[in-house]
Amino acid sequence: MRRILVAGNWKLNGNSHSVVRLASAVVQGARELTEVDIAVCPPYVYLPAVQAQLAGSRVALGAQDASVQDRGAFTGEVSAPMLKDCGCRCVIVGHSERRSLFGEQDQDTAYKFAAVRRQGLMPLLCVGETLDEREQGVTEAVVARQLDAVLALEGAGALTDAVIAYEPVWAIGTGRTATPQQAQDVHAFIRSRIARQDAGVAAKTRILYGGSVKSANAAELFAMADIDGGLIGGAALDAQEFLAICQAGHLQGQQG
Ligand code: 13P
Repeated sequence: MRRILVAGNWKLNGNSHSVVRLASAVVQGARELTEVDIAVCPPYVYLPAVQAQLAGSRVALGAQDASVQDRGAFTGEVSAPMLKDCGCRCVIVGHSERRSLFGEQDQDTAYKFAAVRRQGLMPLLCVGETLDEREQGVTEAVVARQLDAVLALEGAGALTDAVIAYEPVWAIGTGRTATPQQAQDVHAFIRSRIARQDAGVAAKTRILYGGSVKSANAAELFAMADIDGGLIGGAALDAQEFLAICQAGHLQGQQG
């Protein structure tokens, strides 16, 4: 039985006023949306302010990244224990922007995944190919490499408390969404890759789609067999738009 998860990645946006407004509006709107899981991932510095709004609500707090280190002389880093202390329940790891803009390698992502799990938090592992890679026909090879780094370090069992997000880089922030079938094909591949190690875990792992999801396309994406929710960027900065996407997840959840 799958349950749709809609997570908002606010990236490097907002200020101390706007994040509180946005969080408060999401909390209000989420009250009725009982059949969908919802999380928001603000920038680090706003985690406590957003957590104050989310306390006691159905909306979980998440972070956008975490250090591989738990503590020590690592200037500028934020650790998974700190994120847990701030009330986070999930942490995005391996987002394509971390990979492409900040040089994060598959192995770094795997260590972050492990650091997050050590704290009992849920890693939200991002994978996905660039436009070049898609055009070269190596989408599955790229996604397999990214996934295998985590499977090799942590084993398939670790995915029991994790979520995967397939985010084709060419669809992020571009307005160019993968078609439901394009996304479904890669999601099915990801599930089959996990199943090679553990079919039981594969069947239960939630695989989210991310890349220009909006209220206009959410329902058709969530209706696909292997799409278990969405990781939302731009559209998560508008409470009504984000809630409309959550509503699509809620309706899908009601259908069973
Ligand atoms: P957009 O929804 O803005 O395309 O961003 C997707 C994303 O990167 C979420 O992590």
